[in-house]
Amino acid sequence: MKIMIVVGARPNFMKAAPILRAISAYNAAAGEGHRCLVPILVHTGQHYDTMMSDAFFRDLDLPKPDIFLGVGSGSHAVQTGEIMRRVEPVLTQYRPDVMVIVGDVNSTVACALVAAKVSPRPMIAHVEAGLRSFDRQMPEESNRVVTDHLSDLLFVTEPSGLTNLSREGIPGERVFFVGNTMIDTLQAFVNRADSSQVLNQLGLYEPTQDGGKPVALRPYALLTLHRPANVDGCEALQEIIEGLQKLSGSFEIIFPAHPRTQIKIHEHGLEAYFRFEPRKNSDRPNGIRLIEPQGYLDFVCLMKNARLVITDSGGIQEESICLGVPCVTLRENTERPITLEAGMNVLAGTRRESVQRAVRQQLVRARNRHTPEMWDGNAASRIVEVLASVTPGRPNNISAVEAELQRVRDF
Ligand code: UD1
Repeated sequence: MKIMIVVGARPNFMKAAPILRAISAYNAAAGEGHRCLVPILVHTGQHYDTMMSDAFFRDLDLPKPDIFLGVGSGSHAVQTGEIMRRVEPVLTQYRPDVMVIVGDVNSTVACALVAAKVSPRPMIAHVEAGLRSFDRQMPEESNRVVTDHLSDLLFVTEPSGLTNLSREGIPGERVFFVGNTMIDTLQAFVNRADSSQVLNQLGLYEPTQDGGKPVALRPYALLTLHRPANVDGCEALQEIIEGLQKLSGSFEIIFPAHPRTQIKIHEHGLEAYFRFEPRKNSDRPNGIRLIEPQGYLDFVCLMKNARLVITDSGGIQEESICLGVPCVTLRENTERPITLEAGMNVLAGTRRESVQRAVRQQLVRARNRHTPEMWDGNAASRIVEVLASVTPGRPNNISAVEAELQRVRDF
């Protein structure tokens, strides 16, 4: 059985990596005479910078994509349309039995739309189905709704997903509550992140009196910000940044800035709010310190050692509660309500005062890990079990896996 797995943008890589590993484990365990699963990895190229894409392939031990579509940036229509145009011939040539799509980015919805209409039609499996912010201004919300309604197999991360899909009339037999593959990846790599040198490189250790080996970390907050609603308009971005000014007077705020945010800061002329690298000999020890986007292991290292995470990302809300680091979400809503349950994540809104209030509240919150039901590191294995059981396939032997893989890749 051929399983095509699509990735495109940064958060997709962590969600897809454990599925590829679980397929290998399934094949190894199946042994001679059993059905094997043949993965075909497609990268749309929605994200293409070294630090937005290549670094994640390296850090997560992801194999080189079998197919790279090289789509790049563009307006939503241009990007989505271009992905559709380029993925259609791939589907007709490779004829996968299943297409697995993850998350809520433009690559996800574009591939769902093509797979739904191509002949022969593969089964469409959506990983991270059912999440809803109920905010139709958010491009991802349209992507989620359309993708879920085109999918045959919907893999859900949290109970709210089951409620949302049932309310939208999606038959329960298509829906599987399996847990969170992004957390599979976090659990698999969290210890490896300890070998990251990023804390040293950023000078985050307190200098010692006697010049010995530094041990204590200076407290810092970690900030990410990239949603169009928060960064595209000058007023919205300035409001958030001013909401963080007080914190930045006493804390260093480390800000690995997404390329779109960096562009917007310059377009809006907001550079004065930030410290840019190199910071050596800086007379301002605190402030918002803008650095380049980080690879996976360096980012996890920064996250797990932070006093506070401040973000408008979806996945980072989930990762920070699992790491036990209090989180402030710079949004009015979240499609991941489970992260709010134990108070480890709060919605701050985007106004100066509400951001300040949420930061004050979360700064005094004790570290406390919150691991939602089924976020146990085994979501991908559950997904692969379902894929293997519900999709058509033929018996073959384990040596045929390699032969078929080669044949598909040589195509
Ligand atoms: C996309 C996803 C968003 C996800 C985010 C993670 C959609 C609708 N949005 O948003 O859900 O949270 O990825 O990062 O799919 N750029 C580069 N280099 C890159 C990629 C992007 O410079 O490798 C710049 C370009 O100027 C581009 C802009 O970032 O126009 C936006 O990229 P795009 O993929 O359109 O959306 P994201 O904001 O990254």
